[in-house]
Amino acid sequence: MTTAAVIGCGDVSVVHLEAIEALPGSRLVAVCDTDPVAAARASARYGVPAFATHTELLAAVRPDVVHVTTPHDQHVQPAIDCLAAGVNVIIEKPVAHTLADAERLVAAAEQPGAPKVGVCFQNRYNATSQAAAALLTSGQLGRVIGGSATVFWHRPQAYYQSRPWRGEFDRSGGGVLINQAIHMLDLLQWLLGEVTEVRGYAGRLAPGSVIGVEDTAQIVLDHVGGARSVFFATNANAADSPVTLEIVTDAAELFIRRNLTVRYSDGRIEVVEERRAASSGRTYWGVSHLQLIADFYDRLADPEPFWISPREALKSLEILTRVYGLSGL
Ligand SMILES: NC(=O)c1ccc[n+]([C@@H]2O[C@H](COP(=O)([O-])OP(=O)(O)OC[C@H]3O[C@@H](n4cnc5c(N)ncnc54)[C@H](O)[C@@H]3O)[C@@H](O)[C@H]2O)c1
Repeated sequence: MTTAAVIGCGDVSVVHLEAIEALPGSRLVAVCDTDPVAAARASARYGVPAFATHTELLAAVRPDVVHVTTPHDQHVQPAIDCLAAGVNVIIEKPVAHTLADAERLVAAAEQPGAPKVGVCFQNRYNATSQAAAALLTSGQLGRVIGGSATVFWHRPQAYYQSRPWRGEFDRSGGGVLINQAIHMLDLLQWLLGEVTEVRGYAGRLAPGSVIGVEDTAQIVLDHVGGARSVFFATNANAADSPVTLEIVTDAAELFIRRNLTVRYSDGRIEVVEERRAASSGRTYWGVSHLQLIADFYDRLADPEPFWISPREALKSLEILTRVYGLSGL
């Protein structure tokens, strides 16, 4: 039996709590939130004790895994304290709100004998992402020439007003890039190869916006091996459109918009359907939290680090931090 606790009982915690409840062989033992109302709500819903701080939780309960689902500037210290207490950690993206904070966690996670840390880039577990990765590494598609990706979402002022940290650069570390589009930056560098050069611009373009973070960005990435990708993300779109990802190779075009369509140069067309979301979370959060959490739990006894480690998660943070630097943010 894997025992688990959740630190931060806000919006995304629902997906984690439901996954822990759904997985055979796992049991929620505690929750924690600095907001007593959020803590009491989760405690009552799941029938477990609530704690006001993660240090109190760790002193009273020693779960096998802690899920860190707090705002961006509250990711690293709870995670490091869990590792010091011998507890494995699943941490929400971004790994941290600054590179310096992320590097502290990388160092703690890479100490000999440290417990495992997994970062929630759940879209790597999408059926479409997995199929694209398998095709690209099979060698049958030839060279990757390049790609493009879009994240066109709508975040009204109420989204930021309900959680002020989301619109404050010091606490979130940024806006659309670090909070929403980071998933796609992670997929681009995972599928097309590590990034060697970043050009880009991020700014605030929504009319009447009062937030302190960027809502729009355009980026060009050079990847190891010569592929180049272009990326456009905005929270100022009129609606939450499905994200898109297109990859062009010598032998095929791969296009993801919900499902994956592969068009081969010999005329064949294959479609890989995405699975449906397994939780009551918002659909634009992606459909694969449960798969990532189940895989992390399954691998707890492995001697290897979890494959989406803090060092792996640093890559997308480095890309977007470079864009912020180029944009004077
Ligand atoms: N993977 C995804 O697709 C996905 C989707 C949504 C959110 N997220 C991430 O999840 C995290 C949380 O986002 P959210 O929208 O749920 O935020 P939220 O503000 O709704 O919830 C955060 C909760 O953490 C609590 N909290 C703050 N500091 C704390 C601390 N030090 N200890 C304990 N509790 C603390 C707050 O009181 C709040 O209840 C962010 O990192 C966000 O980027 C990921």
